[in-house]
Amino acid sequence: MRDKLVIIQKEVLESIDKANDSSSLEDIRVKYLGKKGQLTQILRGMGKLSPEERPVVGQLANKVRQTIESALAEKVKEMEERALAIRLKEETIDVTLPGKKPSLGKLHPLTIVLNQITEIFLGMGFDVAEGPEVELDYYNFEALNIPKNHPARDTQDTFYINENILLRTHTSPTQIRTMEIQKPPIKIIVPGRVYRSDAVDATHSPIFHQIEGLVVDKNITMGDLKGVLDIFAKKMFGPKTRTRFRPHYFPFTEPSAEMDVSCVTCEGKGCRICSDTGWIEILGAGMVHPKVLEYGNIDPNEYTGFAFGMGLDRIVNQIYGIDDIRLLYENDIRFLRQF
Ligand code: DAH
Repeated sequence: MRDKLVIIQKEVLESIDKANDSSSLEDIRVKYLGKKGQLTQILRGMGKLSPEERPVVGQLANKVRQTIESALAEKVKEMEERALAIRLKEETIDVTLPGKKPSLGKLHPLTIVLNQITEIFLGMGFDVAEGPEVELDYYNFEALNIPKNHPARDTQDTFYINENILLRTHTSPTQIRTMEIQKPPIKIIVPGRVYRSDAVDATHSPIFHQIEGLVVDKNITMGDLKGVLDIFAKKMFGPKTRTRFRPHYFPFTEPSAEMDVSCVTCEGKGCRICSDTGWIEILGAGMVHPKVLEYGNIDPNEYTGFAFGMGLDRIVNQIYGIDDIRLLYENDIRFLRQF
C-alpha cells in the first residue's frame, strides 16, 4: 500500500506539472482526491490493515494528500499569475504616444461681433432686452406708427402666420414691449433674429440679425443720439472712424436719419468694399415719434427718446471683409475655423 501511495504521488505531481489549464487541474483533483478518487479509495481501505501498519500508512496517506493539495494550489496560483502577466502586457499604454486632441468649438463670427457690440453698450449703461420672434402685427407695425395699408409695410416683405401674427421683420417691436413694462429712464439694446421673405443672394438672407436701441428719459435730444452712436462707432471700428448722419424717413421716428461710418477697409479713401464712396451705411435712427411713445404709455410731453436699429450681419461682413452673407448661415466648418 505504501508503494501504491508513493506511485500515486509521483503520478499526480507529474500530471499537475503537465496541466496547463484550470479544467485539467480540476480533473486531476477529482481523479485522486474526489469521492471516488484513487487516494480516497486507499484511505477507505485502511480498515483492512493491521493495527501496527495503520498509523504508519495513515500518516503517509495524509502526507501524500497534503502534498497533492499544495501542489494543486501552487499550480493554480502559478496559472493565475501567468494570466495576470499576460493581461498586463496586453493592456500596456505607451505614454510616449502623442495624445488625441479634443476638437474645441469656436464662437460664430455673428456671436463674436454681437458680444463686442453688447459690451460697448453695456459700458454706456444700457441693459439688454429681448422680444419674441413670432410677433403680433400690432407690435411689429401698428404700435410703431405703421397702420394697415401704410406704404412702409410693402418695404418689409413679411412672413405672415395669420392675419395678426407674423415673424418679426425688425427688432423695433421690442421698443413697445419694453415701454409697456418699464417706465423711463429706459436705456436698452435688443439683439435678435429677424425675418423677411427675400430671395437669397450675396446680400440678402430671409433670416438676419438686428440690434435695436432705445433711450427714453427727460430732455433726450438728437445730440444724445449722435453722441452715443459716434462713441459706439469709434469703439467698434477704431478711434479714427468718422460718422455722418443723413436725413431719412422711418414711420416710428421723427426726425429720422441713417448713419454712415467711414469705410473700415480704406479709411474713407474709397475702395471696392464701399463702392468708392468712402462711407458705409450701418444703421437707421431717429427721435422716437410721439405717437410711438403714446403706444408705449409714455407721455410725449414729459419724455423724449431716441432709437436706432442696425444690421449685425452687415457689420460682421465689414469687420471681417466677408462679401457674401450666405457664408454666415451655411456653417461650413472650413469658413468658421478662420475666426
Ligand atoms: N426697424 C428699422 C428696419 O428694420 C431700423 C430702424 C430704423 C430702427 C430707425 C430704429 C430706428 O429704431 O429708429 O429697417
